[in-house]
Amino acid sequence: MKITDSYSFRGELSVPGDKSISHRGIMFGAISNGLTEITNFLQGADCHSTISCFQKLGIPIENQGTRILVHGKGLHGLTSPSQVLNVGNSGTTTRLISGILAGQSFESTLDGDASIRKRPMKRIFTPLSEMGATFQCWDPDSFPHSLLATDSGCAPFTIKGGSLTGLHYQSPVASAQVKSAVLLAGLYAEGTTSVTEPVLSRDHTERMLSGFGAKITSVDTTASIQPEPMLEGQKIHVPGDISSAAYFIALGLITPHAEILIQNVGINPTRSGMIETALAMGGNLTLQNERTVSGEPVADILVKSSSLHGTTIGGSAIPTLIDEIPVLAVMAAFAEGTTVIRDAQELKVKESDRIKAITENLSAMGGIVTPTDDGMVIVGGAPLHGTKICTCQDHRIAMAFTIAGFRAAGETTLDDRQCVAISYPSFFEDIKAISYQIP
Ligand code: S3P
Repeated sequence: MKITDSYSFRGELSVPGDKSISHRGIMFGAISNGLTEITNFLQGADCHSTISCFQKLGIPIENQGTRILVHGKGLHGLTSPSQVLNVGNSGTTTRLISGILAGQSFESTLDGDASIRKRPMKRIFTPLSEMGATFQCWDPDSFPHSLLATDSGCAPFTIKGGSLTGLHYQSPVASAQVKSAVLLAGLYAEGTTSVTEPVLSRDHTERMLSGFGAKITSVDTTASIQPEPMLEGQKIHVPGDISSAAYFIALGLITPHAEILIQNVGINPTRSGMIETALAMGGNLTLQNERTVSGEPVADILVKSSSLHGTTIGGSAIPTLIDEIPVLAVMAAFAEGTTVIRDAQELKVKESDRIKAITENLSAMGGIVTPTDDGMVIVGGAPLHGTKICTCQDHRIAMAFTIAGFRAAGETTLDDRQCVAISYPSFFEDIKAISYQIP
């Protein structure tokens, strides 16, 4: 399907399972006793990295399509890996597994792709080292042939687990990956471990670990955990990923004559900033059939063509929509007036530097956008034209600018379509299924 403005979109779809929840299901199942059954699992490349790492740690995992069976071996059932653990492109795999590996009595070495090798890991090394684990980074150019030690704070690195002591960690960043790494290490530590964040980040770890039997509590922006001798395998049904639904929310709102029903979307309040922002921009969006599934709030989302206006996005909303900022920036380009995105410096250390990737691609399409140190300012309403998008092999940049391309004059192409497989392998097919040619 060519990406042009000759289509509108009408119909129903279900987006694939939530990436954050799918990763956690594998990890928590692996360190629990007995069987964990995960349905509506995201068959994306990032989640496959998590599966492969735990298989190398001795956990039998059956992948039966969207149903996964994890044969957990308990908190101390992982075995020393004989190979490097390849985390691919996945920051969630890298940081969360490190929390678990910090509590093991063996050494593990992690490496990933070119993007993961640039992403900051000191944010987990600092608290996990304070708890008793040790880390050594290796020069990526000579790895794995020779191990030249560096203090890069990036992958590849070796983690040596140890006997851990609890920590009260004041995290400088609102990051669910950092919080989760520390809480998972806390399962193996002596005494209480807690993490206080500047602003609350997504709470899937707290919700799901509690379901597996962990003693975990949350008050405001502090989550605390006690060591636990045993977790119990669970049945988990993964809701649709709001970060994937976000592309269809945007598509429905900015395209004339569109009406899209996105079914079975997770609307956890620590993830739902996209919905509140779409409403604040004047979007015609309604939630239907709200319910709770496996401890997570879920709804169907109906979106219709809308006249959007600019808004300000910042402060405590940022962690609730951090992965949706590329597509929110696209919405802002089609809104009347100015949109300011601030307090979002974390965008620079995602799969790509997203402040740079968004502003360069939007400018190349004719949008009016100014990068700032912690976000960007977008003046909406400039007519966009198709161009060749530089995705930086970042799945969310590829998908956000595909949406822009369906409203831009002429044809938009991507330098890499494959990267959407990180979180949404059927993205283009799902768009095609609800598209119709404007007469
Ligand atoms: C994630 C947390 C967020 C998010 C990422 C998934 C998670 O990252 O951007 O895509 O599953 O915990 P940070 O924790 O670095 O903010």
